[in-house]
Amino acid sequence: MNKPAILVARAVFPEVIEKLRKHFDVEHNQAEETWSREQLLARLKGKVGAFTTGGERIDADLLKACPGLRICANMAVGFNNFDLAAMTAAKVLATNTPDVLTETTADFGFALLMATARRVTESEHFLRAGKWDKWSYDMFAGSDVHGSTLGILGMGRIGQGIAKRGAHGFGMKVIYHNRSHLAPALEAECKATYASKEQLLREADHLVLVLPYSAQSHHAIGAAELAQMKPTATLVNIARGGIVDDAALAKALREKRIAAAGLDVFEGEPKVHPDLLTVPNVVLTPHIASATVPTRLAMANLAADNLIGFLVHGKPLTPLNPEVLA
Ligand code: GLV
Repeated sequence: MNKPAILVARAVFPEVIEKLRKHFDVEHNQAEETWSREQLLARLKGKVGAFTTGGERIDADLLKACPGLRICANMAVGFNNFDLAAMTAAKVLATNTPDVLTETTADFGFALLMATARRVTESEHFLRAGKWDKWSYDMFAGSDVHGSTLGILGMGRIGQGIAKRGAHGFGMKVIYHNRSHLAPALEAECKATYASKEQLLREADHLVLVLPYSAQSHHAIGAAELAQMKPTATLVNIARGGIVDDAALAKALREKRIAAAGLDVFEGEPKVHPDLLTVPNVVLTPHIASATVPTRLAMANLAADNLIGFLVHGKPLTPLNPEVLA
């Protein structure tokens, strides 16, 4: 009997390809070729499932060209590469990989916060460049993390993980802004207090962005918002590029409007705004917040299990548009 045909759009753990092969006729991209949209579309034709990684745009035009497609399984918790309304209208199931990456991503958010506040990479570059010839009292003096005010914009599972680290591990005062208030028990667990966005910008010593990207959150942090922050504040973005106006941020960093920033995501990545590359007070990492081997493996397995769950057993694990199943 013919197995259903699926496409794995990017290279992934070989054991995950093997697992998928047990159920599907798999076309993969283990060679990590960069496919144009036309190439992706041509390969998706005739497939019932797609394993995507967050970089492949799935929209109405693509769905129209691939009428046999029934599911796209993202190996990411974010799904702004999906036009969810168009997928639902076309009765194509969308799935993502929540939960399995929460703690790992929160660890990284905290690592980036620490590195930014304490100028870890800036001082390492200085040392590697052979510029360290003497100690001085103010050399790479940064800002304290312990006991300071941690602001979190977007208080989902990862935001809560960062809040707990800050409150319980570092004695930070935690304030957050979100579309909705957390339930009181969850607020107590995170030791977090709801604040308006303005209060968050004004009061945070360290502001961490963990909100999803959408038309509403596009440039949620731009020149006007940066102007409201403390000149000693740091900004960390582990959410999505496009939430921060990178050009405005580079200008604010250069002018010391804020002290420093830590960025794991960028507008138009993997391209990085050239101005960010020339300011010293920013820590830059290539979208690696969930990148530990166990977590990336768990994410890949969950995406694969969504394909198997839906196409073989009719039961996906983490659907984003379950109305398609009705
Ligand atoms: C990574 O950015 C993800 O959305 O999982």
